[in-house]
Amino acid sequence: MFGFFPQKYDGLIVRSATKVTADVINAGKNLKIIGRAGTGVDNIDCEAATSRGIIVMNTPGGNTLSAAEHTCTLICALSRHVARGDQAMKAEKWSERKVLMGSELYGKTLAIVGLGRIGKEVALRMQSFGMTTIGFDPLVPPEVSQEFGVESMPLEKIWPLADYITVHTPLIPQTRNLINDKVFSICKKGVKVVNVARGGIIDEEALLRALESGQCGGAGLDVFIQEPPKDFTLAKHPKVIATPHLGASTTEAQERVAVEIAEQFVDVAQGKQLFGA
Ligand code: MLT
Repeated sequence: MFGFFPQKYDGLIVRSATKVTADVINAGKNLKIIGRAGTGVDNIDCEAATSRGIIVMNTPGGNTLSAAEHTCTLICALSRHVARGDQAMKAEKWSERKVLMGSELYGKTLAIVGLGRIGKEVALRMQSFGMTTIGFDPLVPPEVSQEFGVESMPLEKIWPLADYITVHTPLIPQTRNLINDKVFSICKKGVKVVNVARGGIIDEEALLRALESGQCGGAGLDVFIQEPPKDFTLAKHPKVIATPHLGASTTEAQERVAVEIAEQFVDVAQGKQLFGA
């Protein structure tokens, strides 16, 4: 049934593609620890692991800079229609430049939902473009976000102020469809949204409607509810810049998470303190 012999091993390390289902976990008779070289543990059945007393560890810090840089890349690319400009050149359509007027980031407001490691690094980088950074995170006190230049405010105050919104939260019941029809309706017309976190934080159907009506001026999407998507309508939309979950796809991040998870396994084997989400 499996391409390997899970019953032989005490530990299992995976990246994102391998699904560690209850079947895999239950077949691992000796399994004591599962490591995710990356942040999200959504490809691991944590409940099944916990019920068998198996430790699940991740490496929440290793991807931070890469995910933040990818977010900033999408914000910049959206502001200047980089993807459509490139498509025009490849199609030898120089005249497209007439419809590719952009807007500066300078003086615009970036709303950051989720002010943890990645949200903070995004804020610091986009401040250097002259953006005003506001945000929300129930776990980060306002005086802490103020230290890295983000004015914290409730979500209902954030939406009407934002020119760009980027989300950096896990996908949990409280964040599923966080940006929905109602939120789009109270945003500035033409607001741009970016999701390098998890598909489903922005309601994909609501986003499509907002793009069509012009209420949303563009979206940078690295993640989707279904990966790979069965339906590429959103990814193909002319106002969308889409990438196939590349947030952590850098040589530096992948090396970092590999080293971190290996070190954490060694620590466990040596009885040191556990670390992870
Ligand atoms: C993560 O959770 O580590 C990132 O989203 C990257 C990935 O899943 O590969």
